[in-house]
Amino acid sequence: MAKLVIDNVDLFYHRVQALRGLTLEVNEGEIVALLGNNGAGKTSTLSMLSGLYRPKSGTVTWGDRDLTTMQPWDIVEAKLLHVPEGRRIFSTMTVHENLQLGGYLVDDQKLVDERIERAYELMPRLRERRNQEGGTLSGGEQQMAAIGRALVGGPKLLLLDEPSMGLAPLIVKQVMEIIKEVQAQGTTVLLVEQNARAALRIADRGYVIESGTVTMEGAASDLRTNSKVIDAYLGA
Ligand SMILES: Nc1ncnc2c1ncn2[C@@H]1O[C@H](COP(=O)(O)OP(=O)(O)OP(=O)(O)O)[C@@H](O)[C@H]1O
Ligand SMILES: [Mg+2]
Repeated sequence: MAKLVIDNVDLFYHRVQALRGLTLEVNEGEIVALLGNNGAGKTSTLSMLSGLYRPKSGTVTWGDRDLTTMQPWDIVEAKLLHVPEGRRIFSTMTVHENLQLGGYLVDDQKLVDERIERAYELMPRLRERRNQEGGTLSGGEQQMAAIGRALVGGPKLLLLDEPSMGLAPLIVKQVMEIIKEVQAQGTTVLLVEQNARAALRIADRGYVIESGTVTMEGAASDLRTNSKVIDAYLGA
């Protein structure tokens, strides 16, 4: 079982410290929500997991792999895939071309085609828009395309950075349902969100981080009813 364990990590951008003794775990098969306000260190956590930044101290392991010694492309090859903040799909390529790109490390074209088909089944809207250029999609459709592109890579662990950002409530709900289905199909998910309400609805467990350190953690059902979480992150 490939469990992700971040233990006591300090991460700096030159002199700015983004993570302070960050400690959290993601068990295989879970959706874990990583919640926190602007600047809390959520994106930094994902960037570190993807090998873009190295911690100054602490350990990061995924099963028997030490992620702190791996190159970003080796981490991708190991099927730890990252859907970045702001989606970053290719705006002049069609939806279908974007999905095909997700399979660039997959040698078996038949497998790529099957996964694209599965992405279309999961997100019929993408099939309808398959020949439309990425840049002309709505925000929700772009988010679906970004998730679909990652799915074509066959993720074992999927990192999602604020998939609900800028989306209307109904679309947020749809995107969360898609993420839940991704989990049901066998992918582990680390879900970064400022939208705590939406994330805790589908997550198994959650962590709240502030200034790069975990301040609250627990079962999603407990966090949803925790008065501190309600006051700080769920609003009235
Ligand atoms: N490349 C960078 N260089 C210097 N400082 C950075 C860099 N990236 C992030 N930081 C700083 O690190 C801290 C954590 O930023 P991070 O992007 O991880 O927050 P976040 O929780 O993702 O916030 P948001 O919800 O706004 O996306 C912030 O103080 C930020 O200014
Ligand atoms: Mg961020």
